[in-house]
Amino acid sequence: MDARDKPGMTENVSKERAMNVDIMKVDYSTKIPNNVNLSEDRQVLKALEGWHPGYIDWWNDMGPDGFQQSLVYLRTAYSVDPRGWAKFDYVKMPDYRWGILLAPQEENRVIPFGQHYGEPAWQEVPGEHRAMLRRLIVIQGDTEPASVEQQRHLGKTAPSLYDLRNLFQVNVEEGRHLWAMVYLLQKYFGRDGREEADDLLRRRSGDADSPRMLGAFNEATPDWLSFFMFTYFTDRDGKMQLHSLAQSGFDPLSRTCRFMLTEEAHHMFVGETGISRVVQRTCEAMKAAGISDPFDVAKVRALGVVDLPTIQKKLNLHYTLSLDLFGSEVSTNAANAFNAGIKGRYHETQIKDDHRLQNSTYPVLKLVNGEIKRVDEPALTALNMRLRDDYTQDCIKGLLRWNKIISLAGYDFKLTLPNVAFHRQIGEFKDIHATPDGVLIDEATWNKRKSEWLPSSDDGDFIASLMTPVTEIGEFASWISPPKVGIDNKPGDFEYVKIET
Ligand SMILES: [Fe+2]
Ligand SMILES: [Fe+2]
Repeated sequence: MDARDKPGMTENVSKERAMNVDIMKVDYSTKIPNNVNLSEDRQVLKALEGWHPGYIDWWNDMGPDGFQQSLVYLRTAYSVDPRGWAKFDYVKMPDYRWGILLAPQEENRVIPFGQHYGEPAWQEVPGEHRAMLRRLIVIQGDTEPASVEQQRHLGKTAPSLYDLRNLFQVNVEEGRHLWAMVYLLQKYFGRDGREEADDLLRRRSGDADSPRMLGAFNEATPDWLSFFMFTYFTDRDGKMQLHSLAQSGFDPLSRTCRFMLTEEAHHMFVGETGISRVVQRTCEAMKAAGISDPFDVAKVRALGVVDLPTIQKKLNLHYTLSLDLFGSEVSTNAANAFNAGIKGRYHETQIKDDHRLQNSTYPVLKLVNGEIKRVDEPALTALNMRLRDDYTQDCIKGLLRWNKIISLAGYDFKLTLPNVAFHRQIGEFKDIHATPDGVLIDEATWNKRKSEWLPSSDDGDFIASLMTPVTEIGEFASWISPPKVGIDNKPGDFEYVKIET
């Protein structure tokens, strides 16, 4: 039965239903696919169309190196309905339809935290918080193209067509996330928004003169183990930031981030399963060769797989770079953004408290008289620490899965997250050195021992030596297991990328 025929349903309700169905569907008739009615928003459409050629130039210069003519089996969003939003088909990456997709508007949504708690969510930028809001959107926007730039060389060493396709899926979606932020800048921030949108195409990851805004997004992603670690740990920082922005009182930002999270889940899946498959392959190879000591690095490497201690070092690096992305543990910026109703907490609406945090405290790890201690700080200024704690909890899930693979294979080895004082460049511990167990050490000891904990250039050389591309259908490199299931339930011998050079 059509919903409109239901007895008792008022006309207004049925109209709202119809509107929501509209917003679920994406309009592909305009040059820029969207569900925000761009065809009737001429000014913004014009601004976005003006920005489009620069984006394509950026994609051609800084997007995946090679493969631009290849047909890639990609998903594209045709709806924002979480129950079915993507369709899969072969696409040349430059022809991917990057669009503007917002989650449906929630009826009568109110600001869920801060000094405006309970007031109706803003549909326009609140003047008093304009600068802060713009800055947060720009910082989020800057990370999206940065990761594409960082990963641009990886196509050449992909361990399989399946992995190659996943890399490109992540890349085109990070490109779409840039579009998502640029839409907000161009629609809601006028001239300075347009200037910021142009600057997002001007900065380059790792560039000496014009780097990306955040540290981890200027690091190299030299090999596929780094890629998996990046998508597991650094995309997960993205998830936490998007969750906090999805709580925003500025409704268009909230709706944008909510849909981005749908896509982001796949990026972290690529990371988690990628690492699982590397661990799996290593354990299988060690077992087959009768190696009982996982620390016998030379013997394990001779099998053409990545030894577990090196996986731990890569994990240490990417986890700590990602921790730095949360900023200082104690931060007045974070407090201001919360007070203003701009950036909330992870799962804000599910937290049972006053959502204003004027009188509460939160325990923060700090350096006190040369010792790492928990100190109660005002909860408002400790919001970065809280989000980082939520992040760490979220990270642990993958470690449990990876460790299960190792223990099922019969090895006494556990991957662990290093102590938050280890290898930090931002926050409380940036001026000290600590071991992964959190024992403070002096500089000389750090320099002597750091290659036990972080990938050395020798480790990098070894991993690089494994990075020979595998492009035969259904084949995988020696150092990684095939996935358990294919993308879109495709069989193992599916040609995920039809390579054309
Ligand atoms: Fe993203
Ligand atoms: Fe991502």
